[in-house]
Amino acid sequence: MTMSCEALNVAIVGATGAVGEEFLNVLDERNFPIGKLTLLASARSAGKTITFKGTTHTVEELTETSFKNIDIALFSAGGGISKKFAPIAVESGAVVIDNSSAFRMADGIPLVVPEVNPEAVKEAGIEVGNPGVGIIANPNCSTIIMLMAVNPLHKVAGVKRMVVSTYQAASGAGAAAMRELELQTREVLEEKPVTTEIFPFQYAFNLFSHNSDMKPNGYNQEELKMVHETHKIWNQFNGDQSAITATCIRVPVMRAHAESINLEFENPITEEQAIAALDKAPGVSIINDRDSNTFPTPLDATGKDDVYVGRIRRDISRDDNRGLDLFVCGDQVRKGAALNAVQIAELLVR
Ligand code: A2P
Repeated sequence: MTMSCEALNVAIVGATGAVGEEFLNVLDERNFPIGKLTLLASARSAGKTITFKGTTHTVEELTETSFKNIDIALFSAGGGISKKFAPIAVESGAVVIDNSSAFRMADGIPLVVPEVNPEAVKEAGIEVGNPGVGIIANPNCSTIIMLMAVNPLHKVAGVKRMVVSTYQAASGAGAAAMRELELQTREVLEEKPVTTEIFPFQYAFNLFSHNSDMKPNGYNQEELKMVHETHKIWNQFNGDQSAITATCIRVPVMRAHAESINLEFENPITEEQAIAALDKAPGVSIINDRDSNTFPTPLDATGKDDVYVGRIRRDISRDDNRGLDLFVCGDQVRKGAALNAVQIAELLVR
């Protein structure tokens, strides 16, 4: 059944979190056709009120019966909650768009960046009103931001090898981590001992290797997500993981991630061709002014939908036109999470 701009009943799981709040902003700004809106969080938040489009909604505790008559459920309450409740929501007839990593690499679950592989939703047979199918996974924020910049170049010249280093904001670790960064910043300036409840390290005026699980091969989970998710989204390289490598670092920035990306291509691509491809890519903006040394910053990207690309330059370690370096910034909460999920939901409306 194809829904053509019919109002849909939407549930938000994790409505009180950093991404949950942004789901509401993005749904509002993009005028998503919402019938009934159900806001779900933990028992701690039950009874809190949130205003959406001038109407006050009461947050309800997430339970197994929360998904009756829901068409689309946007999940952002952590992997454990998704694992338990996404199948229940699907069983109740909802399409789940899941922001956690719980289902990203599962067979048959599409992993979607709408500008890169929108066809994956249809290929999986997922439609509103088709009960029992399915879950759509929202990729990791760093993967989304990277692919927004790299995919337009990949289409022109074919990426053979990619080396990425990230500079990731506090928002990726949730609202509590953002509060801790702010608190620690005050504490350092006031020469007080710093509170370390979310991260085991001082975060303010510091940086550290990403806090996700460290694997025996020396990669942390965030780095492996960037590698494996990109392979799945591009559906290529025949599982050859040597083509992408990543180093993920947390920096004391509030909510936009930055990434330094080195690319090796199958075919030649000049700086001019790269700029032309990025210039016409939807969702990408270029800030690349060498004369004034002006390039993207996390603050440029904060609160914005676009991913910003700059430092676009030929890799001088190569003597041909098959290497490029880029610097990319994208709002982790928006394109890295809520906006991408709502754009996926829009694929279901059309
Ligand atoms: P709550 O505010 O009631 O704890 P963030 O990623 O910014 O930390 O947000 C996490 C979101 O997930 C919040 O909305 C949080 O709700 C929600 N959440 C956490 N634990 C549960 C749970 N057991 N059941 C439902 N929602 C949960």
